[in-house]
Amino acid sequence: MNALAATSRNFRQAARLLGLDSKLEKSLLIPFREIKVECTIPKDDGTLASFVGFRVQHDNARGPMKGGIRYHPEVDPDEVNALAQLMTWKTAVAAVPYGGAKGGIGCSPDELSRSELERLTRVFTQKIHDLIGTHTDIPAPDMGTNAQTMAWIFDEYSKFHGHSPAVVTGKPIDLGGSLGRDAATGRGVLYATEALLAEYGKSISGSTFVIQGFGNVGSWAAQLIHEKGGKVIALGDVTGSIRNKAGIDIPALMKHRNEGGHMKNFHGGDVIDSSELLVHECDVLIPCALGGVLNRENAPHVKAKFVIEAANHPTDPEADEILTKKGVIVLPDIYANSGGVVVSYFEWVQNIQGFMWDEEKVNMELHKYMNSAFQHLKAMCKLHDCNLRMGAFTLGVNRVARATLLRGWEA
Ligand SMILES: NC(=O)c1ccc[n+]([C@@H]2O[C@H](COP(=O)([O-])OP(=O)(O)OC[C@H]3O[C@@H](n4cnc5c(N)ncnc54)[C@H](O)[C@@H]3O)[C@@H](O)[C@H]2O)c1
Repeated sequence: MNALAATSRNFRQAARLLGLDSKLEKSLLIPFREIKVECTIPKDDGTLASFVGFRVQHDNARGPMKGGIRYHPEVDPDEVNALAQLMTWKTAVAAVPYGGAKGGIGCSPDELSRSELERLTRVFTQKIHDLIGTHTDIPAPDMGTNAQTMAWIFDEYSKFHGHSPAVVTGKPIDLGGSLGRDAATGRGVLYATEALLAEYGKSISGSTFVIQGFGNVGSWAAQLIHEKGGKVIALGDVTGSIRNKAGIDIPALMKHRNEGGHMKNFHGGDVIDSSELLVHECDVLIPCALGGVLNRENAPHVKAKFVIEAANHPTDPEADEILTKKGVIVLPDIYANSGGVVVSYFEWVQNIQGFMWDEEKVNMELHKYMNSAFQHLKAMCKLHDCNLRMGAFTLGVNRVARATLLRGWEA
């Protein structure tokens, strides 16, 4: 089942639990606006190259739409649509005053030079500048884009609309980016995991962890878990997987990775086959890489007691059913990885206020938002007698539905 079908299925289940009016249900699923633009740029060798860019703006009942822009050869409108919808529910679960959006350009960023990427980003911004904005739609980095991409969008947008740092988040600190934004998703994963484990009388220290992915989210989650006394006993990325029953030395692994080392050449663990990683014995499994990695083939063999969905959509619906039957507790992506969008919200607030916060304040506020969302999510589980995924979906969908009704959607 693709991401759009799975997201829509979860939405429909939540709508049924909430008893939503069928017309409102239908209206909530339909995107507000879908944009498709052709971006033609001169390449460094003087030839012309054309790329298709998308922006799906899903819903703005609760505030300006918010979501990443990815540069990837397989960016497809259906997936962008699903991710835009997920952002609507995620921002509502996190209780930040935003709707949802997502965008992307079908390109291979690794095959473009820095100046080609800059030209492509500027042309894309020229085509969509009158449809995004500080109070309309606020892009952020996603796969294949980064703080530099946001800096170019901010600069190009400002040529049309005046100095507008709050039009994008995930900017470099020198241009109004927030302290703590880089670590925010991983730190949010830590806070979410702490909140969940506490429900079962457990804590980070004393628990064992397996982490898939050692990029932005995975490496921050691993470092913070390690600092809190958690034992990361297996870890993998695209370069291979390792295990160490005594606990992997995460700072040493970070150093190894930052020096260009591959996972399998790290001396602090034994190499294992990557297919063993997700089914490795542990208390907590944290997928921080790709979507759909837990499926009907490997789900029956998962030995973790808890799965924290730090990646977007890592568990396909068949795996979800299998894990639920096995009694594995799955903390869903729309809550577990919302730390990034929460600190993006703080960045936007700081830009609008023209006042920068210190990192301690950012982390303290993030902690409050993650804990509060968890309490609200749990209350929905109790009210609707459902699992954590449905608790999160009913929480998010209900907030968006309430805002839509209050604004008067049928007039
Ligand atoms: N970065 C954020 O703020 C953020 C926020 C919310 C959700 N997410 C989600 O978290 C996930 C990771 O994002 P990121 O920003 O850390 O990306 P990233 O590109 O920094 O890291 C991705 C990691 O996944 C690994 N990986 C790729 N293919 C793999 C494979 N086949 N097997 C094992 N590992 C593989 C890579 O080696 C890398 O370590 C994605 O699903 C993303 O959508 C990220």
